[in-house]
Amino acid sequence: MSFVSVDHLQKSYAGTAVFSDINCDIKKGEFVTLLGPSGCGKSTLLRCIAGLTAVDGGKILLDGQDIVPLSPQKRGIGMVFQSYALFPNMTVEQNIAFGLRMQKVNADDSRTRIAEVLKLVELNDFAARYPHQLSGGQCQRVALARSLVTRPRLLLLDEPLSALDARIRKHLREQIRQIQRELGLTTIFVTHDQEEALTMSDRIFLMNQGRIVQSGDAETLYTAPIDVFAAGFIGNYNLLDADSASRLLQRPINSRLAIRPEAIELSLTGDLDGEVRSHSLLGNVIRYRIEARGVELVVDVLNRSAADLHPNGQRVALAIDPSALCEVA
Ligand SMILES: Nc1ncnc2c1ncn2[C@@H]1O[C@H](COP(=O)(O)OP(=O)(O)O)[C@@H](O)[C@H]1O
Ligand SMILES: [Mg+2]
Repeated sequence: MSFVSVDHLQKSYAGTAVFSDINCDIKKGEFVTLLGPSGCGKSTLLRCIAGLTAVDGGKILLDGQDIVPLSPQKRGIGMVFQSYALFPNMTVEQNIAFGLRMQKVNADDSRTRIAEVLKLVELNDFAARYPHQLSGGQCQRVALARSLVTRPRLLLLDEPLSALDARIRKHLREQIRQIQRELGLTTIFVTHDQEEALTMSDRIFLMNQGRIVQSGDAETLYTAPIDVFAAGFIGNYNLLDADSASRLLQRPINSRLAIRPEAIELSLTGDLDGEVRSHSLLGNVIRYRIEARGVELVVDVLNRSAADLHPNGQRVALAIDPSALCEVA
């Protein structure tokens, strides 16, 4: 049975629907990600689940109970925002204690629980600091601790890493996932970053314009995009119309075709001739633009040695892994 079940959920602002029929199920202990472009409705969905935004129709079941009629405080849900939302005039410890005061937890239990979560987010030594004395990553760990200390049934994270620099972001990703596993905490994470979604999630719900267009684990979303939007959003696919695809592969193809840039191999001999139009170095990967049979393709090659570097204008042969061809609607 699912632990969270969103059923025909609807939300409009001034007659404009953000979404009109959201359905999804999440298992207990699962880490799921809502992934999609800005404005597709991720935050609104999260806020509806938290009770911060009223819904227009539909149900949200949490552990079998419809929580739509409940106030946010009665839902047992923790939420962390991109902007941390810490109280600037309170210390780390006071910020974390705030939620417990609301829950009327006694002083002794509070102290124990605060010490526990401070340890969990590795901020034991920072209890007496104020938010302005912390880095962005530390502030976000306080925000996380403040949610965890209330022992929520469900944790909602709305782009918690988007304001942080890349190195901190990667570290915090791992830390969040580790804590979530340790606590077995059912979590909905929101991001517009495909890499974040692919590396962190048990399951991804890909959203576009108020709809969940595809759901599945990272491998499914990456290797079997359901439509052009999914292929365009995840994995830098080459998207060819049927004519170009037929010309490239020299057989009739009736739908659009998605080919991942790393599924095309470059060599100096072979059947499919191409010419390097441009290339850029992305660190360990070289990204080529290659023209073959009048079709321009993006090809990613691991940068292993000087032999992997082909100058613009060089003739190359391409080999496309047939199992990586993906027909999309
Ligand atoms: N309070 C609001 N009033 C009016 N429109 C809103 C409000 N909040 C969100 N929207 C609209 O709902 C849509 C989805 O927004 P949002 O859920 O914030 O998207 P995301 O988090 O995916 O970027 C957007 O078109 C946005 O402009
Ligand atoms: Mg948002």
